[in-house]
Amino acid sequence: MFDNSAEVLDLRPKKDTKNMELFKSIHKSQHVQRNFDLSKKMPEQDIATIVTAATQSPSKQNVAHFKVHAITNREVIEEIYECTTCDPDSSPEASGLSYARGFYKPGDNDLAPKEANYPENPQVLGNLVLVFEESENYHTPWDKLEGDRTHCANPQTFVTSVEEVRHLFEGNTAMSKIAELPKDEKKRVLQIIDALERQGVDVYNKDSLDKYITKNREILTRDRNQALGIALGYVNLSSAQLGYGTGCCTCIMDQSRLQKLLGMEGGPMIVMGIGYKQEGKNRRVHQYRDDFVFPTRKKQEIEVNYVN
Ligand SMILES: Cc1cc2nc3c(=O)[nH]c(=O)nc-3n(C[C@H](O)[C@H](O)[C@H](O)COP(=O)(O)O)c2cc1C
Repeated sequence: MFDNSAEVLDLRPKKDTKNMELFKSIHKSQHVQRNFDLSKKMPEQDIATIVTAATQSPSKQNVAHFKVHAITNREVIEEIYECTTCDPDSSPEASGLSYARGFYKPGDNDLAPKEANYPENPQVLGNLVLVFEESENYHTPWDKLEGDRTHCANPQTFVTSVEEVRHLFEGNTAMSKIAELPKDEKKRVLQIIDALERQGVDVYNKDSLDKYITKNREILTRDRNQALGIALGYVNLSSAQLGYGTGCCTCIMDQSRLQKLLGMEGGPMIVMGIGYKQEGKNRRVHQYRDDFVFPTRKKQEIEVNYVN
């Protein structure tokens, strides 16, 4: 009899099934590839599919929260690697002192190369490297206004329009400042006020406006992090299905150097290396140090509540 209940005791699918193919990709993509075969070149179509995964994954109300840099230039990738490596001689931020080097105790550290006692991230040395950059392009489409109603892209991104004009609401002269604006700008500001008032915000009260902005910014941050997570998941799984190894890195020690290198205005959110696994080499062996094998942690169990 066909059993359509959600509860399954054995998550492992049968051999040679589509489920098994996916099962393997899921498990493979959970782990980090720390070395790559750089003698090979990734086909353009594979890069295109991976870029599609990064840019066409779902986000709440289809808002774009980041830019994606897709890099195959070896010199640039090497410099990205340096940006993710703690340099003990650099400033506390770029040396990792304020993060990992301060956390790990010298001498009893198996999470970082012993002689240096700071972590390295060779997973960013892939044949293709993606860098996700924070980016806001939330502008409310004011050109789509209909009548007197404000049609916002969505209730959260609207906060950026509020931030732009909030200076007009401050002080005793707020009303006259708005009255003196050029016609179109005045119309826009009045529409923003209208939309805020409909949401119960007292625009001329600093606390009320601050509360509104903080709350909506928190929602935007949540939406952005979720969108990034989904995009990374899409990239990870697609890359695994194409046969590549992957590795994420949020330990971006020298953020400003990376920003300069890629001409980024926004902050770097994560770097991801994707590429060919080296034949016969353990995935945890450091790209440049055969004698260093990265440790791994067992995946913590995630409880599933089946409701049948
Ligand atoms: C969002 C995200 C960020 C990560 N950042 C880092 C990082 O900065 N450095 C690192 O060595 N590993 C990083 N990892 C790798 C995880 O720690 C890794 O997935 C986990 O250790 C399991 O893989 P493993 O079996 O290869 O260790 C990151 C993974 C994810 C999903």
